[in-house]
Amino acid sequence: MKILGIETSCDETAAAVVENGRTVLSNAVYSQIAKHRPYGGVVPEIASRNHVKKLPGIIEEALKDAGETYESIDALAVTYGPGLASSLLIGFTAAKTLALRLGKPLIGVNHHEGHLHSIFMKPDAPAPEDVFPMLGLLVSGGDSSLVLMRETGKYELLGSTIDDAAGEALDKAAAVLNLGYPGGPIIQKTAEGGNPDAIRFPRGLDQSDRGKWIYKYDRDLCFSFSGLKTSLLTHVKNLDHTPEGDELRDISASYQEAICDALIIRVERALEKFPVKSFACAGGVSMNKVLREKLVKLSEATGVPLLLCPPAYCTDNAAMIAGAAYEKVRLGLRGAEPGDVNPNLRLADWV
Ligand code: KG4
Repeated sequence: MKILGIETSCDETAAAVVENGRTVLSNAVYSQIAKHRPYGGVVPEIASRNHVKKLPGIIEEALKDAGETYESIDALAVTYGPGLASSLLIGFTAAKTLALRLGKPLIGVNHHEGHLHSIFMKPDAPAPEDVFPMLGLLVSGGDSSLVLMRETGKYELLGSTIDDAAGEALDKAAAVLNLGYPGGPIIQKTAEGGNPDAIRFPRGLDQSDRGKWIYKYDRDLCFSFSGLKTSLLTHVKNLDHTPEGDELRDISASYQEAICDALIIRVERALEKFPVKSFACAGGVSMNKVLREKLVKLSEATGVPLLLCPPAYCTDNAAMIAGAAYEKVRLGLRGAEPGDVNPNLRLADWV
């Protein structure tokens, strides 16, 4: 079964054709990073305008690269949330119109579910049935959460960030350090050769601060990166100069270390609380070298197998959307065609 996936939840305009859930026949992505760089972050109005301009060409490119046509694909899949409303609407309207025009089914996919599914986007990946229940760490520019994936379509959100996402914290740090946008890859590069123990930045919601907890998720499995961000800002303000060279390397390495530690601590706690067959990490921040090394170490220490997202599918793409959609079709969990986008869509059971 060949599914044409469409993804426009934020600032990547993407389309892909995926066969039987894991063979990626094409993966066309137009990254708008250069358009948003002057502003240090994504500007929703610019994102949606560029989706309008680029999406038709990106869909054509995905079909051409796959050697397929509108007629030869079996179904369409589209991200209908969460994300920027004005961005989601462009991909959603295009997918809905195409499905109507072609008389083919349309499967709505949660963006986070797509990210979590991206670990299966390689021919030698295990079957989901063989690795579930699985603990998923989703770390992107817009979200950081821990998800218990009992089986396809049965998800439980265990914990989430109560303020910034990990990627957002990296992007904001890069802005504070005048390094550019997006921050994740730049901080990783700047941190090379730096001392990760030079500055002890906070790991968020640490054990000593047990104030009133108003969130419905387990405090020990939730993330907080706003204190870390403030701590960096204060550190830089207290310097009487702009950090450069070794000092900049040390600051970047220490900041990156704090983010990775904050993530790893919660994954470790979740693995203790929930016996799972495997754990996985997906989303843009899962590209990070230090995080990957720490996850591998944790897997070795706990004996729980780790599944990492292939680098090509870590950041936003439509192959993961088509892949997740196939699972729903395969298991008969497709659900009703979504009527509208939902910018605040939560990861929830399909069955
Ligand atoms: O998954 P993604 O494309 O967007 C969302 O769905 O939100 O992730 C983008 C995020 C950005 O915050 C970017 O700084 C971060 O992923 N990122 C990285 C790396 N590459 C991208 N963070 C850390 N290390 C990297 N190598």
